[in-house]
Amino acid sequence: MEQQPRKVNRIIEPQSVIEGAGVRLKRSIATSVLDYLDPFLLFDHFGSNNPADYLAGFPMHPHRGIETVTYMLAGVVQHKDSLGNAGSIEAGDVQWMTSGSGILHEEMPKPHEGQMAGFQLWVNLPAKLKMTKPRYQEVSSRIIPEVHRQDGVSLRVIAGQVDDVRGPVTEIAADPAYLDVSIPSGVAFSHPIGKGHTAFAYVFEGKGTFGITDESSGQIVTRPKLVVFGDGDHITVKATEEHVRFLLVSGLPLHEPIARYGPFVMNTGEEIEQALRDLRNGTFIRG
Ligand code: CO
Repeated sequence: MEQQPRKVNRIIEPQSVIEGAGVRLKRSIATSVLDYLDPFLLFDHFGSNNPADYLAGFPMHPHRGIETVTYMLAGVVQHKDSLGNAGSIEAGDVQWMTSGSGILHEEMPKPHEGQMAGFQLWVNLPAKLKMTKPRYQEVSSRIIPEVHRQDGVSLRVIAGQVDDVRGPVTEIAADPAYLDVSIPSGVAFSHPIGKGHTAFAYVFEGKGTFGITDESSGQIVTRPKLVVFGDGDHITVKATEEHVRFLLVSGLPLHEPIARYGPFVMNTGEEIEQALRDLRNGTFIRG
């Protein structure tokens, strides 16, 4: 079968924003530069050696119509929610939260040995699942498989598949892949991504050459940047003089209208009004 390598469509410079009760973070999706990368609604990278940048955290707030995916590299996020869940997301752990019809939760970052860093991705839900029952997958680092290849490439498989290894996060509407990829210097890495799926890489350590094809030697990308891939059936990345580490995320676009208001993402303005009415009337949580 003919191979169609994916080129680089865009390289996004993360923007500094302040969110929650005063958390400084780097945002690459949900900005004026890149509003929406269907089905991905938002991508934030947080992390600082200064607790004043994040200790205020994200006090109790609602979500409806989306999924939020939190992946920690260092430190801890303590959380509790209206489903009765409470716990901590620690280094290497993932929380994949499907808000569906509505959830209220609190997310409070704390340092561990002075460090705190991680990512939050918002994945849109298709119209037919926006009011689904809230669901929550807490994935401990221990059960996230790691693939170590002979050439030195290593991957953590959070969702999707690498070789014959499947990630623990399953049954998500967007059929997502979410991989944490490390490539040592001098090594190239290729990975299949189904045609028609939206795909991006978020480079957070080192630098690498992205979008290598038969005609193109690719583009050098230095952290921190978000790389949006064009369509095709695989990507190739090469680490040249230094190693590169990035998240590789893909999912099926929905091609549906969106109406967005802060933590609510629905299909129409009327559905946003309904979410606000439900919140005022105390009927937001459907039990
Ligand atoms: Co939240």
